[in-house]
Amino acid sequence: MPHIVYKKTDLVKTPSTCDGVDFKFIAKSYNFTDKKRNTEYKIAVQKDNRDFLLTVRPKDENQMVKFDKVTRISPVSVVKDAINSYAKAIEADIIFSNTNNFSNKIVPQNKYIKDINYFVDEFDTDKEIQIEIGFGSGRHLIHQAKNNPDVQFVGLEIHTPSIEQLSKQLELQEIENVLVVNYDARLFMEFIKSNKVGKIFVHFPVPWDKKPHRRIYSNEFINEALRVLKIGGTLELRTDSRKYFDYCTELLTNLPKGRITIDINKDLEVSSKYEDRWKKMGKNIYDVVLVSSQEDEPIDIKPDFDFDFEVDDYLKLIENIPTKSVVENGYFVHIEDIFTLENKENSGMIQLTMGNFDRPVSKYILVEQGKVSYYQGSPIPTSSNLNAHKKLKEILSK
Ligand SMILES: C[S@@+](CC[C@H](N)C(=O)[O-])C[C@H]1O[C@@H](n2cnc3c(N)ncnc32)[C@H](O)[C@@H]1O
Repeated sequence: MPHIVYKKTDLVKTPSTCDGVDFKFIAKSYNFTDKKRNTEYKIAVQKDNRDFLLTVRPKDENQMVKFDKVTRISPVSVVKDAINSYAKAIEADIIFSNTNNFSNKIVPQNKYIKDINYFVDEFDTDKEIQIEIGFGSGRHLIHQAKNNPDVQFVGLEIHTPSIEQLSKQLELQEIENVLVVNYDARLFMEFIKSNKVGKIFVHFPVPWDKKPHRRIYSNEFINEALRVLKIGGTLELRTDSRKYFDYCTELLTNLPKGRITIDINKDLEVSSKYEDRWKKMGKNIYDVVLVSSQEDEPIDIKPDFDFDFEVDDYLKLIENIPTKSVVENGYFVHIEDIFTLENKENSGMIQLTMGNFDRPVSKYILVEQGKVSYYQGSPIPTSSNLNAHKKLKEILSK
């Protein structure tokens, strides 16, 4: 990532501006997690109306300015420009710089790949939705999309090369009814309205026989799937793993809102790469289909990420802040690091990880003269993030 090493000198003055980059404030590490660690500074910058932090820290007897991984923004060229402007503003005597290796080219957005925030804020369709979880090579998803042009498909994957491969295929084949998102399927359903989905395909999920808690299927996942499925909508598992089949059958039996059908070695119109492999090996293929039989209430997660109090004494707060993770059922809060703001009374930044164990978010909390807010805006409004936020309010308002 872009960085510049230079002979140690004074920090930038704040507030100030250089080459279109605003330097807003400086936060100094409070040696919270590692008492021996050298002093590190976070420089709050704003460029093109976007806020992010740079890290300034010692590098041997010199100093280094680089990106901050929690607040990193894309494209990386924006961060590169801010680092160059920082070096210019402090008239740095540069020893090493790699910022020229990062081009200013704007990478064209792929219209198929959506960020999770798109599903939080914008996604809305009158069409029936169908979701494929862990689409891998995308063979099944492409087949479904071509044969059902009136359905809006959403493909969920966590493997980036599979996402890129599918999006290329969608473009080549001019398929218009698929959106792809890199997000953990176990947490995605929260962003979908109730009773909108016709089918959810889970074909050949990783069996996780030794770590069953990592499986896609769980009671929570099934309840969320039933909520988003319309009456008659289906959650379709196809697997070669007898253990996964038994585990799911047990979870899915006798649900008040659905009934299941089971098949062994049923042929589908399209066979995935995994399926071909298992068939060649003569393995059994199991299908467990859950059919939703009940209309669900709309969900109403009100994303309230406000802090409705002010901090009276920031230094006292950080002296007493818990150093161990606060773990509750389904969510946690862990304070990673603490900073004080230079030349500002009762002000600082708290770096933390919070939310769901499977998809934790990293954020900074900014305390400016007692007023508390999330730097760079609130976390994604999942129920675990909201619960973690409530816990955080308790911690900070003590
Ligand atoms: C064994 S492959 C099966 C791929 C494809 N469905 C097929 O039948 O060929 C499982 C896929 O699920 C993806 N995956 C695993 N865990 C996931 C999760 N929590 N959310 C979304 N995708 C996941 C993996 O990256 C992988 O591509």
